[in-house]
Amino acid sequence: MGKPKALVTRPLFPVAREILEKNLDVEYWTLAGRISREELLGRVADKDALVCLLTEKANEELLAAAPKLRIVATVSVGYDNIDVPACTRRKVVATNTPGVLDETTADFTWALLLAISRRLVEGDAWTRTGTWPGWDIDQMLGGDVHGKTLGIIGMGRIGQRVARRAQGFGMRVLYNNRTRLTSHLESALAAEFVSLERLLGESDFVSLHVPLTPDTRHLISAPTLEKMKRTAYLINTTRGPVVDEASLAAALEHKRIAGAALDVYEREPEVHPGLISSKNVVLAPHLGSATIETRTKMAVMAAQNVAALFEGRRPPHALNPEVLE
Ligand code: GLV
Repeated sequence: MGKPKALVTRPLFPVAREILEKNLDVEYWTLAGRISREELLGRVADKDALVCLLTEKANEELLAAAPKLRIVATVSVGYDNIDVPACTRRKVVATNTPGVLDETTADFTWALLLAISRRLVEGDAWTRTGTWPGWDIDQMLGGDVHGKTLGIIGMGRIGQRVARRAQGFGMRVLYNNRTRLTSHLESALAAEFVSLERLLGESDFVSLHVPLTPDTRHLISAPTLEKMKRTAYLINTTRGPVVDEASLAAALEHKRIAGAALDVYEREPEVHPGLISSKNVVLAPHLGSATIETRTKMAVMAAQNVAALFEGRRPPHALNPEVLE
């Protein structure tokens, strides 16, 4: 009997490939550009394992096309690309890569927050034009960060790390979460649990850290934007559909809020034209976890999840461990 077969939709990194290749026969998608849906459905037909990215949907259609599949390992912490209940029904283990990207994503959240409030991207563009006349008293004035109020929606691993960094800026931190943190953690993070309504009404910066679920889709839309301060900024490093982009574009156009800094979009790689044309936004191409160190760790973690299953061990980050019972 030959080795089990895996499809990996990117070459990843040598250290992750090594882990996979120990016990599996691995096929990589190495061509420029993303694997097309058609290619993916065709290539997965004889595979026992799939290592995929957040841009690839592991849904009923894919599972039906892959009758031998035993594991889908996404190289991401967010797993809205995987239909976990469908995997469970078909006894396919689904895994993600939690924990290794929290600090990196929190760093990037702050890069966005600082960039939008201090108009860094706009200023960079101006400096490059060669038309900057030199320092002036009322030039490109932004808003202060230190001493302001930061509202964190979704106080999980990443939200907590964003909160910790806020202490260095002497900020007041409000948070809203499905469940309240322990009082020990609240005081360590100097964060106050408040209703969503209060958070939106009192924060100078609102940062989103909830996963994308049916409950969080369009959490930020016209009615929630309406509750924010006119001087507030919205930061989104989680998933695009948590924000209704059309409403956000309208709010920016009508100066309902001061600005937004976004790393994720509702229909990636498309970006709402109202955001592209807005001056009060910073737009990043989904870079939250994009450091060499962290992306390598994520790939290794995905590879370890797959390797474990075929070595008779439990994949350490199974989203549906009941499949393993
Ligand atoms: C990136 O967006 C991730 O979910 O890991």
